[in-house]
Amino acid sequence: MYLILFLCFCLCALTILSLLAKWIQFFRTSVLPYGKLNTTTEKPTSPLGHWLAQWTVPKAWFAHFYLVGFALAIENALEIILLSKYQLRGPIMSLLYMLDNETLSDTMSRQDCLVALILFTLHLTRRVYESLYIERPSQQARMHISHYLTGLGFYGAMVFGTWLEGAANLGVYGDISNNNIDSSKQVSIPTIVRTTFGVLLFLYATNHQHTCHHILGSLRKNIGSGYQIPQGDWFEWIVVPHYLCDILIYLALNILNGFKNWIFVCGLIWTTINLTITASETKIWYQKTFGDEYKKKFPKGRWIILPWVY
Ligand SMILES: NC(=O)c1ccc[n+]([C@@H]2O[C@H](COP(=O)([O-])OP(=O)(O)OC[C@H]3O[C@@H](n4cnc5c(N)ncnc54)[C@H](OP(=O)(O)O)[C@@H]3O)[C@@H](O)[C@H]2O)c1
Repeated sequence: MYLILFLCFCLCALTILSLLAKWIQFFRTSVLPYGKLNTTTEKPTSPLGHWLAQWTVPKAWFAHFYLVGFALAIENALEIILLSKYQLRGPIMSLLYMLDNETLSDTMSRQDCLVALILFTLHLTRRVYESLYIERPSQQARMHISHYLTGLGFYGAMVFGTWLEGAANLGVYGDISNNNIDSSKQVSIPTIVRTTFGVLLFLYATNHQHTCHHILGSLRKNIGSGYQIPQGDWFEWIVVPHYLCDILIYLALNILNGFKNWIFVCGLIWTTINLTITASETKIWYQKTFGDEYKKKFPKGRWIILPWVY
Protein backbone atom coordinates (compact mmCIF):
# COMPACT_ATOMS: atom_id res chain seq x y z
CA MET A 1 0.00 0.00 0.00
CA TYR A 2 2.73 2.47 0.94
CA LEU A 3 4.55 2.28 -2.40
CA ILE A 4 1.25 2.57 -4.32
CA LEU A 5 0.27 5.66 -2.32
CA PHE A 6 3.76 7.15 -2.69
CA LEU A 7 3.78 6.72 -6.49
CA CYS A 8 0.25 8.14 -6.85
CA PHE A 9 1.20 11.09 -4.63
CA CYS A 10 4.34 11.81 -6.71
CA LEU A 11 2.41 11.63 -10.01
CA CYS A 12 -0.32 13.97 -8.70
CA ALA A 13 2.28 16.37 -7.27
CA LEU A 14 4.14 16.42 -10.60
CA THR A 15 0.92 17.15 -12.48
CA ILE A 16 0.12 20.08 -10.18
CA LEU A 17 3.71 21.34 -10.43
CA SER A 18 3.68 21.24 -14.24
CA LEU A 19 0.41 23.24 -14.24
CA LEU A 20 1.92 25.74 -11.81
CA ALA A 21 5.07 25.92 -13.92
CA LYS A 22 2.92 26.86 -16.93
CA TRP A 23 1.21 29.68 -15.03
CA ILE A 24 4.03 31.05 -12.87
CA GLN A 25 6.35 33.17 -15.02
CA PHE A 26 9.47 32.33 -12.98
CA PHE A 27 9.15 28.56 -13.60
CA ARG A 28 7.67 28.95 -17.09
CA THR A 29 10.83 30.71 -18.23
CA SER A 30 13.48 28.82 -16.25
CA VAL A 31 12.32 25.19 -16.04
CA LEU A 32 9.42 24.42 -18.40
CA PRO A 33 10.78 24.79 -21.97
CA TYR A 34 13.01 22.08 -23.40
CA GLY A 35 14.63 21.21 -26.70
CA LYS A 36 13.65 23.38 -29.65
CA LEU A 37 11.10 25.28 -27.51
CA ASN A 38 13.96 27.05 -25.72
CA THR A 39 14.46 29.25 -28.80
CA THR A 40 10.97 30.80 -28.82
CA THR A 41 9.78 30.83 -25.20
CA GLU A 42 10.31 33.79 -22.85
CA LYS A 43 13.70 34.03 -21.15
CA PRO A 44 14.14 34.28 -17.35
CA THR A 45 14.20 37.85 -16.11
CA SER A 46 15.74 37.40 -12.65
CA PRO A 47 19.31 36.29 -11.78
CA LEU A 48 17.81 33.36 -9.83
CA GLY A 49 15.81 32.34 -12.91
CA HIS A 50 18.99 32.44 -15.05
CA TRP A 51 20.85 30.39 -12.48
CA LEU A 52 18.07 27.78 -12.31
CA ALA A 53 17.72 27.62 -16.11
CA GLN A 54 21.39 26.67 -16.60
CA TRP A 55 20.94 23.27 -14.89
CA THR A 56 20.40 21.32 -18.09
CA VAL A 57 21.43 18.01 -19.68
CA PRO A 58 21.35 16.94 -23.38
CA LYS A 59 17.79 16.24 -24.55
CA ALA A 60 19.19 13.13 -26.24
CA TRP A 61 19.32 11.68 -22.72
CA PHE A 62 15.60 10.95 -23.19
CA ALA A 63 16.96 7.55 -24.30
CA HIS A 64 17.97 6.88 -20.66
CA PHE A 65 14.30 6.90 -19.62
CA TYR A 66 13.57 3.95 -21.86
CA LEU A 67 16.81 2.10 -21.19
CA VAL A 68 16.38 2.34 -17.41
CA GLY A 69 12.64 1.55 -17.69
CA PHE A 70 13.39 -1.46 -19.89
CA ALA A 71 16.04 -2.81 -17.48
CA LEU A 72 13.62 -2.40 -14.56
CA ALA A 73 10.79 -4.12 -16.47
CA ILE A 74 13.01 -7.13 -17.24
CA GLU A 75 14.14 -7.29 -13.61
CA ASN A 76 10.53 -7.16 -12.40
CA ALA A 77 9.46 -9.83 -14.90
CA LEU A 78 12.28 -12.13 -13.72
CA GLU A 79 11.20 -11.64 -10.10
CA ILE A 80 7.58 -12.50 -10.99
CA ILE A 81 8.75 -15.68 -12.77
CA LEU A 82 11.00 -16.55 -9.82
CA LEU A 83 8.08 -16.14 -7.44
CA SER A 84 5.53 -18.12 -9.42
CA LYS A 85 7.83 -20.95 -10.60
CA TYR A 86 10.26 -21.38 -7.71
CA GLN A 87 8.46 -19.66 -4.81
CA LEU A 88 11.45 -17.38 -4.26
CA ARG A 89 11.32 -13.64 -3.64
CA GLY A 90 13.82 -11.45 -5.49
CA PRO A 91 15.14 -8.20 -3.93
CA ILE A 92 12.15 -5.98 -4.82
CA MET A 93 9.56 -8.55 -3.77
CA SER A 94 11.47 -9.15 -0.51
CA LEU A 95 11.55 -5.42 0.29
CA LEU A 96 7.83 -5.15 -0.43
CA TYR A 97 7.12 -8.19 1.74
CA MET A 98 9.16 -6.78 4.64
CA LEU A 99 8.34 -3.07 4.47
CA ASP A 100 4.91 -2.78 2.82
CA ASN A 101 1.53 -4.45 3.26
CA GLU A 102 -1.04 -5.95 0.92
CA THR A 103 -3.82 -3.35 1.30
CA LEU A 104 -4.78 -2.02 -2.20
CA SER A 105 -2.64 -4.76 -3.79
CA ASP A 106 -5.38 -7.11 -4.95
CA THR A 107 -7.43 -4.93 -7.32
CA MET A 108 -5.74 -6.30 -10.43
CA SER A 109 -5.83 -9.94 -11.41
CA ARG A 110 -2.69 -11.91 -12.12
CA GLN A 111 -3.57 -11.97 -15.85
CA ASP A 112 -4.10 -8.18 -15.96
CA CYS A 113 -0.70 -7.63 -14.32
CA LEU A 114 1.07 -9.91 -16.79
CA VAL A 115 -0.60 -8.42 -19.89
CA ALA A 116 0.15 -4.87 -18.68
CA LEU A 117 3.80 -5.74 -17.93
CA ILE A 118 4.25 -7.39 -21.34
CA LEU A 119 2.69 -4.44 -23.21
CA PHE A 120 4.65 -1.84 -21.28
CA THR A 121 7.88 -3.75 -21.84
CA LEU A 122 7.07 -3.79 -25.57
CA HIS A 123 6.52 -0.03 -25.44
CA LEU A 124 9.88 0.50 -23.73
CA THR A 125 11.64 -1.86 -26.15
CA ARG A 126 10.29 0.07 -29.14
CA ARG A 127 11.28 3.40 -27.60
CA VAL A 128 14.81 2.10 -26.90
CA TYR A 129 15.05 0.99 -30.54
CA GLU A 130 13.70 4.31 -31.85
CA SER A 131 15.99 6.35 -29.58
CA LEU A 132 19.03 4.43 -30.79
CA TYR A 133 18.23 3.87 -34.48
CA ILE A 134 15.34 6.10 -35.69
CA GLU A 135 15.62 9.45 -33.95
CA ARG A 136 18.30 11.93 -34.91
CA PRO A 137 18.52 14.23 -31.91
CA SER A 138 20.20 17.59 -32.24
CA GLN A 139 23.33 18.17 -30.20
CA GLN A 140 22.11 21.62 -29.15
CA ALA A 141 18.74 20.53 -27.74
CA ARG A 142 18.78 20.49 -23.93
CA MET A 143 16.32 19.82 -21.13
CA HIS A 144 16.23 20.96 -17.54
CA ILE A 145 17.60 18.46 -15.03
CA SER A 146 14.17 18.41 -13.35
CA HIS A 147 12.72 16.98 -16.63
CA TYR A 148 15.43 14.35 -16.65
CA LEU A 149 14.79 13.22 -13.07
CA THR A 150 11.02 13.34 -13.65
CA GLY A 151 11.34 11.18 -16.77
CA LEU A 152 13.45 8.55 -14.98
CA GLY A 153 10.98 8.50 -12.08
CA PHE A 154 7.93 8.41 -14.35
CA TYR A 155 8.98 5.32 -16.32
CA GLY A 156 10.07 3.60 -13.10
CA ALA A 157 6.64 4.32 -11.60
CA MET A 158 4.85 3.02 -14.69
CA VAL A 159 6.83 -0.25 -14.66
CA PHE A 160 5.88 -0.80 -11.01
CA GLY A 161 2.36 0.31 -11.89
CA THR A 162 1.92 -2.64 -14.24
CA TRP A 163 1.80 -5.14 -11.33
CA LEU A 164 1.92 -3.39 -7.94
CA GLU A 165 -1.86 -3.20 -7.55
CA GLY A 166 -2.05 -6.93 -8.20
CA ALA A 167 0.99 -7.85 -6.07
CA ALA A 168 -1.15 -9.83 -3.59
CA ASN A 169 -2.57 -11.90 -6.48
CA LEU A 170 0.98 -12.54 -7.73
CA GLY A 171 1.78 -14.04 -4.33
CA VAL A 172 4.12 -11.28 -3.08
CA TYR A 173 2.55 -11.16 0.39
CA GLY A 174 1.51 -14.80 0.71
CA ASP A 175 3.25 -17.59 2.55
CA ILE A 176 5.51 -18.71 -0.29
CA SER A 177 5.62 -22.35 0.80
CA ASN A 178 1.80 -22.43 0.44
CA ASN A 179 1.72 -20.32 -2.67
CA ASN A 180 -1.46 -21.56 -4.30
CA ILE A 181 -2.32 -18.78 -6.72
CA ASP A 182 -5.52 -19.70 -8.51
CA SER A 183 -4.72 -19.22 -12.19
CA SER A 184 -7.51 -21.55 -13.27
CA LYS A 185 -10.25 -18.99 -12.48
CA GLN A 186 -12.58 -18.47 -15.44
CA VAL A 187 -11.97 -15.18 -17.26
CA SER A 188 -15.25 -13.24 -17.61
CA ILE A 189 -16.65 -11.84 -20.88
CA PRO A 190 -16.25 -8.16 -19.81
CA THR A 191 -12.59 -8.88 -19.00
CA ILE A 192 -12.06 -10.43 -22.44
CA VAL A 193 -13.76 -7.43 -24.12
CA ARG A 194 -11.75 -4.78 -22.27
CA THR A 195 -8.49 -6.70 -22.68
CA THR A 196 -9.08 -7.11 -26.43
CA PHE A 197 -10.04 -3.46 -26.86
CA GLY A 198 -7.11 -2.28 -24.71
CA VAL A 199 -4.59 -4.39 -26.63
CA LEU A 200 -5.96 -3.29 -30.03
CA LEU A 201 -5.88 0.40 -29.08
CA PHE A 202 -2.36 -0.05 -27.70
CA LEU A 203 -1.17 -1.61 -31.00
CA TYR A 204 -2.96 1.01 -33.11
CA ALA A 205 -1.41 3.92 -31.17
CA THR A 206 1.99 2.18 -31.11
CA ASN A 207 1.94 1.81 -34.89
CA HIS A 208 1.10 5.49 -35.45
CA GLN A 209 3.63 6.71 -32.89
CA HIS A 210 6.33 4.66 -34.60
CA THR A 211 5.37 6.14 -37.98
CA CYS A 212 5.45 9.68 -36.56
CA HIS A 213 8.84 9.13 -34.93
CA HIS A 214 10.05 7.78 -38.28
CA ILE A 215 8.83 10.94 -40.04
CA LEU A 216 10.57 13.15 -37.46
CA GLY A 217 13.78 11.11 -37.75
CA SER A 218 13.73 11.31 -41.56
CA LEU A 219 13.54 15.14 -41.47
CA ARG A 220 17.21 15.16 -40.54
CA LYS A 221 19.73 13.72 -42.94
CA ASN A 222 22.41 13.93 -40.26
CA ILE A 223 22.37 14.05 -36.49
CA GLY A 224 22.47 17.73 -35.63
CA SER A 225 20.96 19.29 -38.77
CA GLY A 226 18.09 21.79 -38.34
CA TYR A 227 14.32 21.62 -37.98
CA GLN A 228 11.69 21.26 -40.69
CA ILE A 229 7.89 21.06 -40.84
CA PRO A 230 6.87 17.39 -40.52
CA GLN A 231 4.14 16.15 -42.86
CA GLY A 232 2.39 12.84 -43.52
CA ASP A 233 0.35 10.39 -41.43
CA TRP A 234 -1.34 12.12 -38.44
CA PHE A 235 0.92 15.20 -38.85
CA GLU A 236 -1.57 16.27 -41.55
CA TRP A 237 -4.22 17.08 -38.94
CA ILE A 238 -2.44 17.27 -35.56
CA VAL A 239 0.59 19.38 -34.54
CA VAL A 240 2.11 16.70 -32.25
CA PRO A 241 0.54 13.35 -33.19
CA HIS A 242 3.30 11.41 -31.41
CA TYR A 243 2.13 13.02 -28.15
CA LEU A 244 -1.49 12.05 -28.91
CA CYS A 245 -0.29 8.46 -29.47
CA ASP A 246 1.40 8.51 -26.06
CA ILE A 247 -1.88 9.54 -24.45
CA LEU A 248 -3.71 6.77 -26.37
CA ILE A 249 -1.14 4.22 -25.18
CA TYR A 250 -1.78 5.12 -21.52
CA LEU A 251 -5.53 5.21 -22.21
CA ALA A 252 -5.26 1.69 -23.67
CA LEU A 253 -3.42 0.43 -20.58
CA ASN A 254 -6.16 1.93 -18.40
CA ILE A 255 -8.90 0.28 -20.47
CA LEU A 256 -7.04 -2.99 -20.10
CA ASN A 257 -7.11 -2.57 -16.32
CA GLY A 258 -10.73 -1.37 -16.26
CA PHE A 259 -9.53 2.02 -14.84
CA LYS A 260 -8.98 0.23 -11.51
CA ASN A 261 -5.22 0.77 -11.46
CA TRP A 262 -4.62 4.06 -9.61
CA ILE A 263 -0.97 4.39 -10.67
CA PHE A 264 -1.98 4.11 -14.34
CA VAL A 265 -4.88 6.54 -13.89
CA CYS A 266 -2.44 9.07 -12.39
CA GLY A 267 0.03 8.28 -15.21
CA LEU A 268 -2.65 9.00 -17.83
CA ILE A 269 -3.59 12.31 -16.18
CA TRP A 270 0.07 13.35 -15.92
CA THR A 271 0.80 12.40 -19.54
CA THR A 272 -2.27 14.22 -20.86
CA ILE A 273 -1.63 17.44 -18.95
CA ASN A 274 2.14 17.46 -19.37
CA LEU A 275 2.03 16.76 -23.12
CA THR A 276 -0.85 19.20 -23.70
CA ILE A 277 1.22 21.98 -22.11
CA THR A 278 4.22 21.10 -24.31
CA ALA A 279 1.96 20.76 -27.38
CA SER A 280 0.63 24.31 -26.99
CA GLU A 281 4.20 25.65 -26.82
CA THR A 282 5.14 23.54 -29.86
CA LYS A 283 2.36 25.07 -31.98
CA ILE A 284 3.63 28.56 -31.09
CA TRP A 285 7.19 27.42 -31.91
CA TYR A 286 6.14 26.24 -35.43
CA GLN A 287 4.23 29.47 -36.10
CA LYS A 288 7.12 31.70 -34.94
CA THR A 289 9.83 29.61 -36.62
CA PHE A 290 8.22 29.02 -40.02
CA GLY A 291 5.71 31.92 -40.32
CA ASP A 292 3.88 31.99 -43.68
CA GLU A 293 5.47 28.76 -44.88
CA TYR A 294 3.75 26.98 -41.97
CA LYS A 295 0.34 28.52 -42.75
CA LYS A 296 0.64 27.52 -46.42
CA LYS A 297 1.40 23.89 -45.58
CA PHE A 298 -1.76 23.53 -43.47
CA PRO A 299 -4.28 26.04 -44.86
CA LYS A 300 -7.16 24.39 -42.98
CA GLY A 301 -5.26 24.47 -39.68
CA ARG A 302 -4.63 21.50 -37.38
CA TRP A 303 -5.66 20.29 -33.94
CA ILE A 304 -2.87 20.89 -31.43
CA ILE A 305 -3.01 17.49 -29.70
CA LEU A 306 -6.55 16.23 -28.98
CA PRO A 307 -8.72 16.02 -32.12
CA TRP A 308 -12.09 17.83 -31.81
CA VAL A 309 -11.09 19.06 -28.35
CA TYR A 310 -7.88 21.12 -28.51
N1 LIG B 1 4.56 10.30 -21.03
C1 LIG B 1 5.08 11.50 -20.92
O1 LIG B 1 4.81 12.20 -19.97
C2 LIG B 1 6.01 12.00 -22.00
C3 LIG B 1 6.69 13.21 -21.81
C4 LIG B 1 7.54 13.68 -22.82
C5 LIG B 1 7.68 12.93 -23.98
N2 LIG B 1 7.02 11.76 -24.13
C6 LIG B 1 7.13 11.00 -25.39
O2 LIG B 1 8.47 10.92 -25.81
C7 LIG B 1 8.57 11.09 -27.23
C8 LIG B 1 9.58 12.19 -27.54
O3 LIG B 1 9.11 13.40 -26.95
P1 LIG B 1 9.78 14.80 -27.26
O4 LIG B 1 9.13 15.82 -26.39
O5 LIG B 1 11.28 14.67 -27.25
O6 LIG B 1 9.32 15.03 -28.78
P2 LIG B 1 9.90 16.07 -29.83
O7 LIG B 1 10.33 17.31 -29.14
O8 LIG B 1 8.89 16.19 -30.92
O9 LIG B 1 11.23 15.36 -30.36
C9 LIG B 1 11.26 14.07 -30.88
C10 LIG B 1 12.47 13.94 -31.84
O10 LIG B 1 12.14 14.56 -33.07
C11 LIG B 1 13.01 15.67 -33.33
N3 LIG B 1 12.17 16.74 -33.86
C12 LIG B 1 11.07 17.29 -33.29
N4 LIG B 1 10.52 18.20 -34.09
C13 LIG B 1 11.31 18.25 -35.19
C14 LIG B 1 11.27 19.03 -36.39
N5 LIG B 1 10.30 19.94 -36.60
N6 LIG B 1 12.24 18.85 -37.32
C15 LIG B 1 13.23 17.94 -37.11
N7 LIG B 1 13.31 17.14 -36.01
C16 LIG B 1 12.36 17.32 -35.06
C17 LIG B 1 13.63 16.03 -31.99
O11 LIG B 1 14.85 16.67 -32.17
P3 LIG B 1 15.62 17.52 -30.98
O12 LIG B 1 16.67 16.60 -30.52
O13 LIG B 1 16.14 18.73 -31.64
O14 LIG B 1 14.60 17.85 -29.93
C18 LIG B 1 13.73 14.66 -31.34
O15 LIG B 1 14.86 13.98 -31.80
C19 LIG B 1 7.18 11.46 -27.73
O16 LIG B 1 6.59 10.38 -28.41
C20 LIG B 1 6.38 11.77 -26.48
O17 LIG B 1 5.06 11.35 -26.60
C21 LIG B 1 6.19 11.28 -23.17
